[in-house]
Amino acid sequence: MRVPARGRAGGKVILLGEHAVVYGRPAVASGIPLGLTVEVTAGRGPALRADAPFLADDPRLPALLARAAEAVGLDPAEVVGTVESELPPGRGLGSSAALAVATLRACAAAAGRVLGRDDELALGRRLEALFHGTPSGIDPAAAALGGCFRFVCGEPPQVTPLAIARPLPLVVAFGDAPRSTAAAVAGLRARWDAERDAVETLLDATAAVAEAGAAAAVSGDLDALGAAMDENQRLLAALGVSSPEVEALVAEARRAGALGAKLTGGGAGGAVIALARDPEPVAAALRRGGSRALVIAVGAVGEGGS
Ligand code: MEV
Repeated sequence: MRVPARGRAGGKVILLGEHAVVYGRPAVASGIPLGLTVEVTAGRGPALRADAPFLADDPRLPALLARAAEAVGLDPAEVVGTVESELPPGRGLGSSAALAVATLRACAAAAGRVLGRDDELALGRRLEALFHGTPSGIDPAAAALGGCFRFVCGEPPQVTPLAIARPLPLVVAFGDAPRSTAAAVAGLRARWDAERDAVETLLDATAAVAEAGAAAAVSGDLDALGAAMDENQRLLAALGVSSPEVEALVAEARRAGALGAKLTGGGAGGAVIALARDPEPVAAALRRGGSRALVIAVGAVGEGGS
């Protein structure tokens, strides 16, 4: 083994189309500048240690390391690792997928291998499934690629990088409480089973909004992109994956001047993104309400990925 070996991967925001993407509709996501790093070395494994409270005792971590090691031909019993993360877990910002891809990259480096993009996407999705059951693969795609892209799930997924006219100024806001993407995905699946036609209609409408928003992002029409985000949020609420906290943050962001605002990721709490020409006053308004709010620019090709 070539150790110590490190792997890094970025978090993500879904700009448009979360949840609908699990049902084959297109979505638009981007890597973000926050990420995490995994370092692996030789030891009695598989053991993966993370200091973040949410992850520290997570029994899935050794299983993740074992599967990543096996995938690149290492013996899991001989590998240990540590995680250093800048990503708040459980907020819909892609921490599970970033962990999966970073672990994979660290193991690949230890095995003296560099994985190609398609392998990273397929293996990243398989490893992410440890954290939530039926992922579309959009989160590991963002972790692996960074930048802004259109995504349709499948084997293999369709991943189309979007050459956006200019970086998108965003506020990312979230509170203290982690929530579960797996639970939100399962809740919508139960609703889809019970009311398939009604849910399908909302998913089709989401697909149209995602396509309109993708075109707006490419042409640099921030007003149209903001309108698409607002409409997507309305549809997400109708799908039952928003929450009172999310609705309050979205309303506050719009009052403070955002062009559009919505939940991002699994929803049911978690992070909200707001698009704004001048993001600082929007972030300040959200902080006054007690949230953490980061100002980031997303979409430059390769950002966040590695
Ligand atoms: C999670 O970031 C996005 C969801 O669409 C689930 C998935 O695509 O795997 C809710």
